[in-house]
Parts: sequence; structure tokens; C-alpha cells
Amino acid sequence: MADLTNISLARGAPSLDIVAVDELRAAADRAFQRDPGGMCAYGTSPGYTRLLEWLAKKYEVGPQRLIATNGSMQADAFLFDTLIAPGDVVVVEAPTYDRTLLALRKLGAEILAIPLEDDGIDVETLAGELESGKRPRLAHIIPNFQNPAGCTLSLEKRRRLLELSREYAFTIFEDDPYVELRFDGEQQPTMLELGGDDADVVYASSFSKTVCPGIRVGYLVGPSDKIAAIRKEATETYISPNMVAQAIVAEFCDSGAIDGSIATVKAALRERRDATCDALSRHLPDARFVVPEGGYFLWVDLPEGTDGDALFEGAKDRGVLFVKGTDFLLDGGESSFRLAYSAVPPDQIEEGIARVADAYRELAGAAA
Ligand SMILES: Cc1ncc(COP(=O)(O)O)c(C=O)c1O
Repeated sequence: MADLTNISLARGAPSLDIVAVDELRAAADRAFQRDPGGMCAYGTSPGYTRLLEWLAKKYEVGPQRLIATNGSMQADAFLFDTLIAPGDVVVVEAPTYDRTLLALRKLGAEILAIPLEDDGIDVETLAGELESGKRPRLAHIIPNFQNPAGCTLSLEKRRRLLELSREYAFTIFEDDPYVELRFDGEQQPTMLELGGDDADVVYASSFSKTVCPGIRVGYLVGPSDKIAAIRKEATETYISPNMVAQAIVAEFCDSGAIDGSIATVKAALRERRDATCDALSRHLPDARFVVPEGGYFLWVDLPEGTDGDALFEGAKDRGVLFVKGTDFLLDGGESSFRLAYSAVPPDQIEEGIARVADAYRELAGAAA
């Protein structure tokens, strides 16, 4: 406990030791040797052709159903811009990714927050809202190792969401950056796959978690008409995305280096997840959480009435950061918080959670 280094359990990012830096440098070198002209030009607005070809094969879709962008965040922004007008109803999970809430608020959408259960969004509450007249334009769903809650959408719920989307004519936005990072349990099919060619599903993913976030390469797979509108918006916004980054990713993928990178990341994340759950059980027995089967995050509920703001300050005074539950919700979350274990080695996780528990005990003592 003498070590007072700061420990951030706040950022959803990998630590540098699990990024395949040498393999990336080698991929960059090979990419420049192979196609200097393609990489140094503006290139093609839907994305670097070799990367689009790799994605088309992976998802078994025609090239017109794809766009590769500067991070999936930009793909999300294009999708929202082309689909959502002020006042449109958009379904989100509660809690959900804070940046989604910010983007939708900025667009003036009416946000319909549906509670998350241990196996994903409460589809029957959503069905009730639809039956009573709500007509969403889009439902934003993070199906695997959800940010912030760490939970995964069950197969039955995936099917039910597709049914509801067909019946009530809304787009499912399947936001899936963590899908490759499963270290326990069974892989579920995506709604993109389950729905088939005529389903109204726009699928987003990213190389931020499998290569590194600094590379800023993400993509969408969706119905051709929606992708065409997004491609137009993309061209008008930036001419073309970063060809250098996309060519490096294409080489990294085609050469198979990505498989080694994913294996390294998953092994480290499993260890970090285990350290997090173990430390919470020992130091903070009041904590309730769903054990994530993959990904970066774990959501902690403390007994109702716990002052999350005071806990945040107490942890910060002890050099530990996490993100308050209230950041991920329109209402509530005062006694909850998100822990990201992706960036911290196990010994620091243990130390960080011990310090959070110390802050919690001080609060509980003051309230007694
Ligand atoms: C659910 C979700 N969507 C999108 C993103 C953005 O990813 P990218 O780095 O590809 O922009 C994140 C990043 O943490 C995320 O958690």
C-alpha cells in the first residue's frame, strides 16, 4: 500500500504492453513497399480497397455494403447524421456508451432508454413501448461485453430484436467493437448474420481493440442504400479516410498478424478480468457485478444510497480513477461505477480496488 502511483481504471484502452508494436511496424513497412502510390494518394472514399476486400470476405457481403472510416466513432457519427433528425426517437440501452448519449443529444434525438439486464437489453420492455405507440428510427445495441456494463446479449434476445425491427420498421445499429475479445463462453452470431440480407441492421466494428486505438480504423456493414448515403456524407466530409492507416491494417490482417495480436490481448484481458473480480470479492463484498465473458469493462453496483460522487472523490484522493455510473445514464446510476481493466496489470488492479474499498469504508463509516 506504500506505492502511491496513480491507477486509472477509467479509460477503455489497452496498455502498450499488449499492443503488437513490432508487428505493426513490420506491417507498415511491407504496406509501403507494396503500394506506395495507393497509400500516398487521397485514394478511395469508401476506404482502402485491400481492406474493403478483406472485410467483404470476413462478413460475406458485397463491397457496396461496406465503408471503412477513421475509427468506428466516425462511422457512428455518419450513420446518425444520415438517419436521425431532431425529434426522432432512438432506443438506447441503459446504461450505454457515454459518447452515444452525447452524439444523440447533440442531434436533438428523443432518447428512449431501455434497461439492461444481465443478458442484454430488456426486450419485453422495449416491446411494450412499441406496442404503446413509440416509433423509433433506430435502436443502438452493444451486443458483446457491453460498454459500460460488460454483459452480452443472449441469442433469444438477438432474435427478438430482429423481429421487433421488422414489425416496427426501425434500424438496428449493432455496435460491436469488442466481439473478437471473448475469453469465456460461447460466441453468439451477430444480428447482421442472423437477420440475413434483407434485415435492417447496420453493423459497426473497429480495429481499436484488436490492433490499437491510435490506428483509428473502423467500419460499417449495412444495407446498400444506407451505406450509399453514408459514403456520400463521408466523401463530402473528408474526401477519403486515412489511406496510410487502412493500408497498414489491411497488411496486418492479410498477413495473419491480427490473429496473434487478438490472442495476446485476450490472454491479458482474461487475467485482468480475473484480478478485478477477485479483488472486488475480497475488498468490496458489497459490490454486485456481472462477470464479463470478454471485453474491457465491468459494472459495479453498490448498495442503494451509496454516494457515488463522494466515492469518486475519495478514490481520486487515493490516486484511483474510474467512471461514475451517472455518465452512462440519463437518470440514476448514483451508486454505480464502471471499471475498465484493459489498461492495468493485475497487481495494480488489486491495489487500485483496495484503495477504492478503503474510500468506500470511510464513506460508510461517515454515514453510520
Ligand atoms: C461501444 C463503443 N462504440 C464505439 C467506440 C469507438 O471506437 P473507435 O475507437 O473505433 O472509434 C467505442 C470505444 O470505446 C465503444 O466502446
